[in-house]
Amino acid sequence: KELVFSGVQPTGNLHLGNYLGAIKRFVTMQETHDCIYCVVDMHAITVWQDPKELNRQIREVTAAFLAAGIDPSKHIVFNQSQVSQHAELAWVFNCIARMGWANRMTQFKEKAGKDRENASVGLFAYPMLMAADILVYRATHVPVGEDQKQHLELTRDVAQKFNNDYAESIAEHGFGDAFFPLTEPLIAGPATRVMSLRDGSKKMSKSDPSDYSRINLTDDADTIAQKIRKAKTDPEPLPSEVEGLKTRPEAENLVAIYAALTDAQPADVLRDHGGAQFSGFKASLVDVAVAKLSPIAGEMRRLMADPGHIDTVLGEGSAKARVLAAQTMDAVKDIVGFVRAH
Ligand code: TYM
Repeated sequence: KELVFSGVQPTGNLHLGNYLGAIKRFVTMQETHDCIYCVVDMHAITVWQDPKELNRQIREVTAAFLAAGIDPSKHIVFNQSQVSQHAELAWVFNCIARMGWANRMTQFKEKAGKDRENASVGLFAYPMLMAADILVYRATHVPVGEDQKQHLELTRDVAQKFNNDYAESIAEHGFGDAFFPLTEPLIAGPATRVMSLRDGSKKMSKSDPSDYSRINLTDDADTIAQKIRKAKTDPEPLPSEVEGLKTRPEAENLVAIYAALTDAQPADVLRDHGGAQFSGFKASLVDVAVAKLSPIAGEMRRLMADPGHIDTVLGEGSAKARVLAAQTMDAVKDIVGFVRAH
């Protein structure tokens, strides 16, 4: 049976890249799949987080999920640290994955920077916790942005190695010839990699020091308009074919954003706006961005005024998640050969 899982870290500002590459697609998947959406607070602390700020941001990501249209009565919305099975399974996966696999992760290299000796052990183990997030529900599909592709490949490697190493025990316990599914990444749509508004060669990111590089989900209409007006572009008008965007990363990015916001393809956008100057195109982009994002920002603000409600949603979601995760973890303990109470 198909099951969708995805997660978002409660660190820094949620931005348009998180929305178009992930959260907006989480909303769509609800129509066709059972979905589990997680605020990955344990991943957040792989780099230092101020406790009060972390606490607020866990609620803010939850508010963004709900404001965007995720329905916690039909699907599961929760935070990772309330379901201890994630950490338990991550330990088993730490023992399955090889040092070499983790060493190859580009996100680790980027985040650890030059001073690798001083990175947390948790940052190194991050991908195994991510594999556990997904596989503790034996999820089959994971909608993410392009930057998570390598982590999802590692998730498949972990699943495959577990299935191989424990093949005999898996069969003996009645799980056939594979216990974990080989999860499919869903990296789709025009905005799998939204770029910085200041530099078309850099990803839009929560940690960019320039707030003008990104549109935050909490930005008001004036701020959105200003950021789009100031976005870097080249002097040429828009081309009328997508091929014409190839060597123009900033133009390509704005067209991709427009397409994703309006549920269209870049070719459709260029059919309507090819030949336009950026001043005119940016004005249209402001209109669609504000129309789409302002209601979400407003709803997030309303939800954040009632943290008790958000905590209830997370508590109830966690209780539902725990039931599923416990089933997997019991089976894993049996397969590995641990003794547990019956
Ligand atoms: P995180 O919190 O950095 O980002 C959340 C989601 O947003 C996507 N994203 C983008 N998409 C398009 N353009 C961008 N500029 C952009 N920036 C971010 C990310 O790809 C992601 O889908 N490791 C994950 C969190 C995680 C997770 C998981 C995801 C933990 N466990 C299990 C899926 C399944 C992360 O750091 O995402």
